[in-house]
Amino acid sequence: MTETVAVIEGDGVGREVVPVAVDVLDAVGEFSFVHAEAGDAVAERTGDPLPSATYETVADADATLFGAAGETAADVILPLREAVGSFVNVRPARAYPGVDALRPETDVVFLRENTEGVYSGHEDRLSDDLSTLTRVTTTSASERLAEFAVEFAPEGFHIAHKANVMRETDGRFRDAVQRVADAHDVATEEVLMDAFATRLPLDPASFDVVVCPNLAGDVLSDLAAGLVGGLGLLPSANIGPENALFEPVHGTAPDIAGEGIANPAATVLSAAMLLEHLGYDEDGTRVREAVESVLADGPRTPDLGGDASTGGVGDAILGRL
Ligand code: NAI
Ligand code: MG
Repeated sequence: MTETVAVIEGDGVGREVVPVAVDVLDAVGEFSFVHAEAGDAVAERTGDPLPSATYETVADADATLFGAAGETAADVILPLREAVGSFVNVRPARAYPGVDALRPETDVVFLRENTEGVYSGHEDRLSDDLSTLTRVTTTSASERLAEFAVEFAPEGFHIAHKANVMRETDGRFRDAVQRVADAHDVATEEVLMDAFATRLPLDPASFDVVVCPNLAGDVLSDLAAGLVGGLGLLPSANIGPENALFEPVHGTAPDIAGEGIANPAATVLSAAMLLEHLGYDEDGTRVREAVESVLADGPRTPDLGGDASTGGVGDAILGRL
């Protein structure tokens, strides 16, 4: 069967790095690519950052590869995560050999709850002086994340939370995740999220897989990006029951967009996660190893201290597949 992969380049460097990842997917597999638009550029033209045709293309595809959207990011990515029914955002942060990383021992995967918490969208301006936000935590979403976590990390994982203060919401989250882990005999260790922010840079090797509520996962994984060499290296996967969307953690990088020097590694590594998600484990490994090999001794983009172009790094990755 030929799977359908929806491709959304979006804005800024998304237009430069996504074509590299599509070439890589094309080189290792047989996919039918369906291109769709989302982001600032299409919003300027049509008034709508996420045309319904794009939403449907993503919902119908077997998987989606997304670059980044600019100012309209929240209007694009939150509905797209919903289009694939995504309940978990998988964010591996790993220091690759040869890359000048602040903490080379870092190799941690964040499993971030992807639908609720303080990103629930329930924000209100009650007066000139007062705004409020409703933090949403359900047992069902926490358990769904935990079911994924016990399969992903049968050897055990950390749960980062702040249940000592947010007893109801993070307490519910922690208890639900813990219950599922116990039922599967999977070991867990709790860590308060603020303490985690200190422990990760001091002792990154003590963490392997970390299960987090939405905001904590967003912030703490960006902290990890800083330890491994920057945003140009971090891929991510938004996994749903039947569908999934893969994207670099970074945004449109307006400071370098259009120069052809964006690092394509994060997006190509996202494509490797896409391959694994569709069951092509060997191809995913091949792609990851090609990226690792180029990072170790191949051409580099300026964010990693080199002077290569996006295309130059892309050609090197293709050449090592
Ligand atoms: P950013 O990730 O775009 O850039 C942060 C820094 O990392 C910049 O210095 C940039 O040059 C660098 N960087 C990012 N990707 C890189 C790559 N592939 N190669 C080399 N260097 C790279 O984050 P920022 O500046 O906070 O946001 C810029 C725009 O992107 C905003 O409009 C924001 O809304 C949007 N954004 C979109 C996201 C999405 O679509 N999922 C996620 C984050 C931001
Ligand atoms: Mg973020």
